[in-house]
Amino acid sequence: MLRQALARFPRLELIPTATPLEHLPRLSQHLGRDIWIKRDDLTPLALGGNKARKLEFLAADALTQGADVLVTAGAIQSNHVRQTAAVAAKLGLGCLALLENPIGTVDRNYLSNGNRLLLELFGAETELVANLDNAEQLLDDACERLRAAGRKPYLVPIGGSNALGALGYVRAGLELAEQIERSGQAFAAVVLASGSAGTHSGLALALEEARPGTRVVGVTVSRPDATQRPKVEGLLQRTAELLEVDVPAALQIELWDGYFAPRYGEPNAATLEAIRLLAGLEGVLLDPVYTGKAFAGLLDGLARGAFAGSGPLLFLHTGGAPALFAYHPEAI
Ligand SMILES: Cc1ncc(COP(=O)(O)O)c(C=O)c1O
Repeated sequence: MLRQALARFPRLELIPTATPLEHLPRLSQHLGRDIWIKRDDLTPLALGGNKARKLEFLAADALTQGADVLVTAGAIQSNHVRQTAAVAAKLGLGCLALLENPIGTVDRNYLSNGNRLLLELFGAETELVANLDNAEQLLDDACERLRAAGRKPYLVPIGGSNALGALGYVRAGLELAEQIERSGQAFAAVVLASGSAGTHSGLALALEEARPGTRVVGVTVSRPDATQRPKVEGLLQRTAELLEVDVPAALQIELWDGYFAPRYGEPNAATLEAIRLLAGLEGVLLDPVYTGKAFAGLLDGLARGAFAGSGPLLFLHTGGAPALFAYHPEAI
């Protein structure tokens, strides 16, 4: 049903083939539990990541609407902004990005290396703002200014997380469900980072339809459960409405909020340990803002017996490694 519903929406093909689902043998041996990884860090666009999936739908909509500039916002080291700027470059569109410094750092690497460096290469125009607490207003104002100057802006929300963007993860969830089927594994849980929530909402909706009862654990990267839950559940509802399907009654949103301290954009000791562990055992790069925290959640969940049974765990790798170069080597 979801597959037919998705087919009604135009999609720009940025990811022509399924991203790999891989077993991590050395890590599994080290942990005494099988761990698999879905490699959405390997989407083909501009060093990869989950935003390409959302942008397949959002950029197709921008083209349909005749836009000539994509307008978005995020942290100076936003992976979302980097991938949006790359799509704009690929399509010959302009890109305006409103950037905030969420950790108030003056470190040169953070201010100019990593994702920020790539924005320059993609030719994005950037504006530094004090913060994005009022992002919708700031983005609307920026679009208005562009319209007044004769441009045709298309607003891509923070993280690409509106219902249209979340379709990317509905599609990814169906792709993953087929891979799980082929793998023959009975996964105990799928673990992922939950931020602006499009990835979590879309994936949970698709997996509940394609493999009912699959446990999906969203590890929050910026908020406690109390404020993340309405974001995920609200977007889940709006995504189902866009697709004209019901949210399955049995779908439970599970959030773990014990791993994002001290705050969004700042790694903690467990984040760094997780990054080092996966790099050292498997040559796979996590990031200090999202996947390092989510993987730290997986490791701790395993240690405290939060995954019942002995079935393998599946980690959705959503990308972000370019941000490694934005953090001071001593902090990593
Ligand atoms: C690498 C990475 N992982 C996970 C996320 C979180 O995805 P979402 O914002 O859809 O919750 C992001 C969002 O920016 C990201 O860049």
